[in-house]
Amino acid sequence: MNQLSQLQTGLSILELIYLISSVLFILGLKMLSHPATARKGNSLAAVGMVMAIVATILLHHRDGKPIGNIGLILTAIAIGSVIGWVIAKRVKMTAMPQLVSFFNGMGGAAAALISMIEFPNVSPELIAKSGMANGEVLAILLGLMIGTVSWAGSMIAFGKLDGRIGDMRIKAMRYVNLTILAILIGFIIFIMTRHVRSSAELAPLVYIMFAISVIYGVLFVMPIGGADMPVVISLLNSFTGVAAAMGGFLYNNQIMLTGGILVGSAGTILTVLMCKAMNRSLLNVIIGVFGGGGQTNVTVTGSVKEISISDAAVLLTYSRKVVIVPGYGLAVAQAQHICHELDKILEEKGVEVRYAIHPVAGRMPGHMNVLLAEADVPYEQLIESDEINPDLPNTDVIVVIGANDVVNPAAEDDPSSPIYGMPIIKARDAKNIIVMKRGMGKGYAAIENLLFYNDKTRMLFGDAKSTLQNLVNEVKSL
Ligand code: TAP
Repeated sequence: MNQLSQLQTGLSILELIYLISSVLFILGLKMLSHPATARKGNSLAAVGMVMAIVATILLHHRDGKPIGNIGLILTAIAIGSVIGWVIAKRVKMTAMPQLVSFFNGMGGAAAALISMIEFPNVSPELIAKSGMANGEVLAILLGLMIGTVSWAGSMIAFGKLDGRIGDMRIKAMRYVNLTILAILIGFIIFIMTRHVRSSAELAPLVYIMFAISVIYGVLFVMPIGGADMPVVISLLNSFTGVAAAMGGFLYNNQIMLTGGILVGSAGTILTVLMCKAMNRSLLNVIIGVFGGGGQTNVTVTGSVKEISISDAAVLLTYSRKVVIVPGYGLAVAQAQHICHELDKILEEKGVEVRYAIHPVAGRMPGHMNVLLAEADVPYEQLIESDEINPDLPNTDVIVVIGANDVVNPAAEDDPSSPIYGMPIIKARDAKNIIVMKRGMGKGYAAIENLLFYNDKTRMLFGDAKSTLQNLVNEVKSL
């Protein structure tokens, strides 16, 4: 086989492997949409990624030459894998959103670094022909801007979710952020239409753009608070995908392109769905002007009334319809298994038990689905909030377990509340309300919840796991 045909065979095998990897990514993504297949989907996509990386290292050629620096690449992969493995192994389920934010930020940084490294390599012939107005430069600039915003924004989101950074709200933030965004887009237009004769001339502009992108990433996430963080995380995720796809354009690499587009589009769809679920506008998310702060004018009326375990057990056992609202506290207490035991015992006693799932309950998209799937709660028992809300007036008891913001009526009643407009599970419509939590602690949005003072509400104080265990014992004995 002569050298040329060897090269051609190499290239076609590489393309074939990229195609198989892309199919594995797509299948994996599809399987992620159901808790029962999600784990397998994740593994399939991981196999696709390993195949793509190994094939690139072995078979990729640039200007007819095989890839260099293999030792360095393998060392970097080994270091990254060990760090990632240790962090992922140690992280608590409830700290998952921070981890997702952090890893997403690393993806954004990698995409931005590609642009930083590659802008000096824009081919001089291309510059001589069309100046900076070409696809290569556009991919570099967009990759730099979007990747940097994603990195800086994700780091701030990580700090906020981890409780290390507080909210920063300035009234004029909307205008400041819009102005910075306009400057960034202006920069790209300026660079592409200006007579730049070499990539050396481009260097200062690229560094300034990098700095402005960092500022934008920080400023657009800083004011977003409380209940609205999930939407931002999902948006940042899609940014990283788009930035990676720019790398795919730049290197004419199909797998980077497919992977980036899949992450970008899945993240965008999730962001739009979350915006809809939270009743927020996408533009407001992009310029960082929603949520945050604390509510100003809450007058607590009524008093907190408790219920004993035995009374709660009687109330539940002699009900016809019960709805459980799981929240972040259920995940913290790791009470999903005992919760499922309670629902099974009640069903054996002829009570219909369903779970009301709010799209942002917990701390990550699908958190409650994952948690309850872990305990083998049948998927059919999980009902989305807008579907279950109309049936709540016919529900005998709603049991709120470690949830707070997602049942807070302030979202409907108090226009000054940071969660105003967010759809909630209308727990107050049920005939009886039992709330299980440790004390009168606030939820993620750090605001008062008048549901706890409602005439129909009875509080069952204590850690969710031990309270549920006691309740199960009591119901069994009836
Ligand atoms: P939260 O509003 O966070 O309330 C959780 C409640 O659980 C707290 O009030 C706490 O009260 C109670 N709790 C904590 N540990 C407990 C334990 N061991 N046993 C019993 N109760 C316990 O939860 P939520 O209603 O699920 O709402 C989620 C919030 O997080 C929303 O604001 C959402 O926007 C935000 N968020 C969501 C995501 C995603 S994507 N899901 C990501 C980031 C942020 P006590 O201290 O009194 O026990």
